[in-house]
Amino acid sequence: MILSPSMLSSDFTNMESELKALKDAGLKWVHLDIMDGCFVPNITFGPPIIKAMRKKSDLFFDCHLMIEDPGRYVQNFADAGADLICVHAETCDHLERVCAQIAETGAKPAVALNPHTPLETIKYLIPQLYMVLIMSVNPGFGGQKFIPFCKDKVRELRGMIDEAGAETLIQIDGGVTLENARKLTEAGVDVLVSGSAFFGYPPYGERHQAFQDICK
Ligand code: DX5
Ligand code: ZN
Repeated sequence: MILSPSMLSSDFTNMESELKALKDAGLKWVHLDIMDGCFVPNITFGPPIIKAMRKKSDLFFDCHLMIEDPGRYVQNFADAGADLICVHAETCDHLERVCAQIAETGAKPAVALNPHTPLETIKYLIPQLYMVLIMSVNPGFGGQKFIPFCKDKVRELRGMIDEAGAETLIQIDGGVTLENARKLTEAGVDVLVSGSAFFGYPPYGERHQAFQDICK
């Protein structure tokens, strides 16, 4: 299991020390939530901040783009240092093209689906995706409650990936806690995103270990 802590719940005034603390706590990934105030009702940060973070950290930057028409900015995010670029299916008229565009930059292509968006949307893209993100809250804010049917969606997606003979990772994002983490990895999740249930409970090394232990 890979744990990808969402920086949305970190201390934004001390990003450098937060990134270092994650590294020291044995984390390999960090989840960066980019919101544009259009696709989601909140605004966070963009490529310049990611570029600044990149100078301070060699963690795997898992960039979750909650922005309209993300194809316009794929190259900017890649240049800023994104290792993985995840776009929402709901924001792309030509999703296959955007995924190919991401792959061309050298970043890993991923697609996120809102809770109500059917898995059929990405069925034919699975072989070219490094990861599929199942949103388990309506995106926009940290600290929301997990929507239960999203676990069934993970199980169904696991079946689709296996059937395609692909190695696509499954990520879940929103309302993940120590209480539901194990059931989610059992259902087929490879990457757990956790914001409030991670950053709210330092020290990070112990919290990371607690997530790893519960998912064993
Ligand atoms: C929500 C973001 C999430 C969020 C998760 O729109 O995509 O990554 O930070 O936060 P928690 O774990 O608190 O639900
Ligand atoms: Zn996210």
